[in-house]
Amino acid sequence: MKIRKAVFPVAGLGTRFLPATKASPKEMLPLVDKPLIQYVIEEAIEAGIKEVVMITGRGKNAIEDHFDISFELEHVLKGKNQNSLLEEIQRISNLVDFCYIRQKEPLGLGHAILRAKEIIGDEPFAVLLGDDIIYSDIPAIKQLIDIYEKYQSSVIAVEEVEKKYIFNYGVIEHKKVADSVYQISNLVEKPLPDKAPSNLAIIGRYILTPEIFDILEKTKPGRGGEIQLTDGLNDMLKHQVIYGYKFEGKRYDAGNKLGFLKATVEFALRRPDLGEEFRNYLKGLELT
Ligand code: G1P
Repeated sequence: MKIRKAVFPVAGLGTRFLPATKASPKEMLPLVDKPLIQYVIEEAIEAGIKEVVMITGRGKNAIEDHFDISFELEHVLKGKNQNSLLEEIQRISNLVDFCYIRQKEPLGLGHAILRAKEIIGDEPFAVLLGDDIIYSDIPAIKQLIDIYEKYQSSVIAVEEVEKKYIFNYGVIEHKKVADSVYQISNLVEKPLPDKAPSNLAIIGRYILTPEIFDILEKTKPGRGGEIQLTDGLNDMLKHQVIYGYKFEGKRYDAGNKLGFLKATVEFALRRPDLGEEFRNYLKGLELT
């Protein structure tokens, strides 16, 4: 079955970016001039996703407004003949169908995904986490969709991560079955470095079959007292094979300050309108 729907959990509080995120969602922080969430939405659209399901929470209205029509802004831009900006603004609101569901309580990623049960129904779907921004020729989620279509089973993105950072991620135990494809035998959410079953960490891109919903309904709170998607996937291993796929592309952890800064600098350097001047500026930079 084709992957048509994607779930974007965006209810997190963004405490790592306070005070910037006190009154505006962390997903709206821009890399250069585009909010983080738009990069991830565009990745999904390029991969053929037709319906976006956002799992939101209190204080996230700016995300809904961003993907909606802004008559006032369009009127002003038209009046000023700023046509390319106008087209860009209209393009955003026409991208795809959006639907918003409130998570109400921050009870974990697994709990957030479960909120989408009714709207997803009985079909496989994608999950994209906005903290992971991936720069690649082929959209990372499209790479996962291709693997799903080949193996007809759930697929999650993985990446090799240095041992000292592994405690930030879900980690897989695996057997390699093809180039960059791993059959998963166990998943552990945020293990201590000496308890990690491998150096392959879960990155925020998943293709899941709808069986995950019934499983998440029964998944007990795990790490941090939250219902973890990783634990749900571990339970799902009893019923189906799950694959890990080492995608091609450069991943930025925009959910922490250093990763966000790296992404900002590198996306700016890649921009045709800014890159050269910005590179020269960085080369000559001397802080007083
Ligand atoms: C979540 C998942 C974790 C995964 C990570 C990828 O954690 O629970 O398994 O490795 O996303 O970004 P979070 O970063 O939301 O704490």
